[in-house]
Amino acid sequence: MPEPIRFLLNGEPVEVAGVAPQTTLLEWLREHRRLTGTKEGCAEGDCGACTVVVAEAGGAGLDWRPVNACIRLLPSLDGKAVFTVEGLRQRDGSLHPVQQAMVECHGSQCGFCTPGFVMSLFGLYKSAPAATRAEVDDALSGNLCRCTGYRPILAAAQRMRELPAAAGWRAPGRAADGTRTIDPEEEQIAQQLGALARPGGLDYEGAGQRWIAPGDEDALAAACAAYPDATIVAGATDVGLWVTKQHRGLGTLIHTGAARDLARIERTEAGLAIGAAASLADAFAALDNDFPELHEAWERFASAPIRASGTLGGNVANGSPIGDSMPALIALRAEVVLRRGDAKRTLPLEDFYLAYRKTALARGEFVARIVVPPRGEQLLLRAWKVSKRYDQDISAAFACFALQLAGGRVASARIGCGGVAPIPARARRTEAALQGQPWSAATAERAAQALAAEFTPIDDMRASAAYRGRVLGNLMRRLWLEGGDGRAVTRVHDAAVSEAPR
Ligand SMILES: Cc1cc2nc3c(=O)[nH]c(=O)nc-3n(C[C@H](O)[C@H](O)[C@H](O)COP(=O)(O)OP(=O)(O)OC[C@H]3O[C@@H](n4cnc5c(N)ncnc54)[C@H](O)[C@@H]3O)c2cc1C
Ligand code: FES
Ligand code: FES
Repeated sequence: MPEPIRFLLNGEPVEVAGVAPQTTLLEWLREHRRLTGTKEGCAEGDCGACTVVVAEAGGAGLDWRPVNACIRLLPSLDGKAVFTVEGLRQRDGSLHPVQQAMVECHGSQCGFCTPGFVMSLFGLYKSAPAATRAEVDDALSGNLCRCTGYRPILAAAQRMRELPAAAGWRAPGRAADGTRTIDPEEEQIAQQLGALARPGGLDYEGAGQRWIAPGDEDALAAACAAYPDATIVAGATDVGLWVTKQHRGLGTLIHTGAARDLARIERTEAGLAIGAAASLADAFAALDNDFPELHEAWERFASAPIRASGTLGGNVANGSPIGDSMPALIALRAEVVLRRGDAKRTLPLEDFYLAYRKTALARGEFVARIVVPPRGEQLLLRAWKVSKRYDQDISAAFACFALQLAGGRVASARIGCGGVAPIPARARRTEAALQGQPWSAATAERAAQALAAEFTPIDDMRASAAYRGRVLGNLMRRLWLEGGDGRAVTRVHDAAVSEAPR
């Protein structure tokens, strides 16, 4: 007996049946519910006009995260609470502080982007009420505005915290003992979500299409084995575009998001084991603990809403040559654990990629986890993404350098590169040029020349082949400038950081 999709919409329970599972949340909100406050701009996760906030049971209270409704598939909301701009008005009818702040600070002109900005700010208001300027910038990295120039919106992000909140969706507070306090509305939502919980997962069918969302990894393994031709879908930040841009029918869909054990991030003897269904946001936070040098690269990966929906397993399995996590994971010697039925196998991540968009995944097999070994002593680690824009852009080139130094020499070197080959690749010749050499300007220069010539990249709209080669060589030189004897400051904002944090 097919089950309906159940979730909370602006605090009210809804059940959906008969709708094709590849329907996006945006289409459903606008076409089926006539909630047209949520806009469609790009329909590919880039502009943020469609941003809504999704809350789910978290540690203390709820986790509130912005997501792009345009590429989020409707059944993936099962058991969650969705908030749209229509739901923010407070019980007394007044505007929510986020909305009021946008009005007071003139944060809206034509208004098309405004609901999306309001929802991104609402997500921040609920999750990080004392956000720093850098956190505000990051929270808004997925929202584009053609009119305001952003300054009034940033002012609203400041102002929203000064306005009183009536009963409604208040910011969390802190009790005298430092614990997080939550408002009664949030508590009520948490209780309602408890009642919607479906430990066995969801088996849904609508308009002749099936959505299987197994409740744990074992059940997922059984479903993948039973339906080897089904499309696996995690956060749909790649798959969603197959629907909205390529208008593809996806057939039976197997969703990884209900298997909570597949989202676990654990510290094991082998290292940090990141479940394939862990969100990019959670995976990057865990990697930040062990490898803080990578923080900036993760901050530049898409935008906050994409990192909230997208998963590390999806990035790795998608295998795009311009994917950003893989070059870094390859440099960190990560391994990928694949599972088919009860059989598991482990591969070095670089061996997972066979050719352009071709991976070692067999029929019925899926990515179960990614394991990153513990860091060694004296690791010199840097990763740089080169793209036309700082935020929310695709890499023209990406390089991650992991040099194990010992006694002034390079004991071992691993370099992962993206955007320069048909697959995420290791720069083995350059690694060999570094291996065992004194860590010096001369060695770095030889390695830079080797790296510039190591790959045969292509010309495309993001960069020419010549630029890509040259930029890789220059990143090697930068590694020496930042991590060699001189420790040069290579960026203007680095110089400013020592005096006044951004
Ligand atoms: C606006 C925008 C910006 C982006 N920016 C970046 C960026 O800066 N850097 C970057 O690298 N990527 C970027 N991406 C791409 C995308 O966000 C990532 O690739 C993301 O990690 C995909 O994860 P997902 O969970 O959404 O995967 P999905 O879209 O659900 O799936 C992607 C692919 O992986 C397969 N898959 C998913 N999980 C598994 C599994 N466990 N086992 C086997 N197969 C699986 C699916 O079948 C599909 O082929 C961007 C995307 C958008 C829309
Ligand atoms: S419509 Fe542009 S991000 Fe969704
Ligand atoms: S107010 Fe016009 S696009 Fe932002």
